[in-house]
Amino acid sequence: MGYEGTTYNIFQILHVIAAIAAFGPLFVYPRLQRAGQSATVAKLHNSFVIPALVLVWVFGMGLQGLSDQVIRVADLWVSLSIVVWIALVAISWFMIKPSLRDDSERAGKLLSAGIGMTHVLLVVSLYLMVFQPGA
Ligand code: HEM
Repeated sequence: MGYEGTTYNIFQILHVIAAIAAFGPLFVYPRLQRAGQSATVAKLHNSFVIPALVLVWVFGMGLQGLSDQVIRVADLWVSLSIVVWIALVAISWFMIKPSLRDDSERAGKLLSAGIGMTHVLLVVSLYLMVFQPGA
């Protein structure tokens, strides 16, 4: 099954659903926290958002493999997207995760910074996916 086959299209849909699941919830973290739902947010992050972020990578690499080398890891947009993805995982793990169950002012700032950086990198990823520089 090659580029633009049905399996490829299904992987595209799964890749986008995973991205929605990985990035959507972050928009409501601060609101849920202010509503005293810190434990719910922490659970959502660990058992839903982080696994979804891993699936973004799994389906992205699947797309690359299914494209029969039409899309190559050596292409600028693909290699940069992998670097951006690694940064997103690091932010999710080292900045967002530890600040979710912590009510201190420092944790609040770390959370805001982590969410802000994630949103910037989301826009960078979407630019890479849609414009595919170096393809
Ligand atoms: C980091 C966050 C990422 C986001 C938000 C994201 C989002 C998207 C979106 C919205 C599309 C457009 C749907 C389409 O045209 O198929 C797409 C396509 C694609 N993504 Fe990602 N993606 C991300 C990371 C990755 C990673 C790490 C890879 C790894 C190789 C990857 C590989 C691909 C490929 C191969 C396509 C299909 C392009 C095509 O068919 O022309 N993505 N992605």
